[in-house]
Amino acid sequence: MASSPFIIVAIDGGAASGKSSSSRTLSERFNLLHVDTGSFYRAITAELLRRGVKAADLAGVRAALADLRLGTLVEGRSARMQLGGRIAGDEIRSGEVNDHVSHFAAIPEVRTALLAYQRGQADVARERGFRGLVMEGRDIGSVIFPDATFRFFLHADPGERARRRANEGQQDSIAERDRIDSSRKTAPLACPPGAVSIDSTHLTLAEVVEQMARPIAERLTT
Ligand code: CDP
Ligand code: CDP
Repeated sequence: MASSPFIIVAIDGGAASGKSSSSRTLSERFNLLHVDTGSFYRAITAELLRRGVKAADLAGVRAALADLRLGTLVEGRSARMQLGGRIAGDEIRSGEVNDHVSHFAAIPEVRTALLAYQRGQADVARERGFRGLVMEGRDIGSVIFPDATFRFFLHADPGERARRRANEGQQDSIAERDRIDSSRKTAPLACPPGAVSIDSTHLTLAEVVEQMARPIAERLTT
């Protein structure tokens, strides 16, 4: 019997559309390395803020990016980014990072700095013996892995997404982040042609995961 193929699952969508919850579930079910690229943009944002660099100061951003040493630590089934040997903590979910992350993420140099690193996570997954990779973000199915085995794009009404975030006790202006993420010139948030679009507004998490898991399970057993 042929060994099962290495698969790449790309999940994109706006804030609180259900990317992290569904990715984590799929990573457990199919033994995939889980990569939350939003946490990468958040960690870089927290680091640049710590250094006092403003998103409007392009020369300062460039200088700081040139100085960053990126590494990966695999914890369970999750890939964590190391910056200068250190893993970012809860500060990446702070209100301050929520307010600034989309401004830094709109800068082409910031995205370029993360491009090869994100693609390299497939090598990390292979080296560690995972059956594949599930990567979530805004441009995974459009830019990072346009040839991914599966590409999903999650939608949900803005009101429902705000309710979900509030239920988590988070202060987060998700409408503003979505606006900036969708309107930027480089790698804007949009459902790419050919991706499977899922509207999760009236679906439970389990129902969303089932829609994704069915074709993956088929692929892994054939
Ligand atoms: O968890 P939530 O969906 O609210 O956000 P996140 O996935 O942690 O992403 C935080 C921010 O990082 C987004 O609002 C985008 O500005 C940026 N991001 C991006 O530009 N591209 C990605 N692939 C992932 C995140
Ligand atoms: O990663 P992203 O920001 O896209 O969303 P998430 O962190 O996976 O989900 C945000 C919250 O919505 C979590 O508390 C999920 O349990 C919840 N959720 C939900 O209630 N119904 C869904 N269909 C998907 C997520």
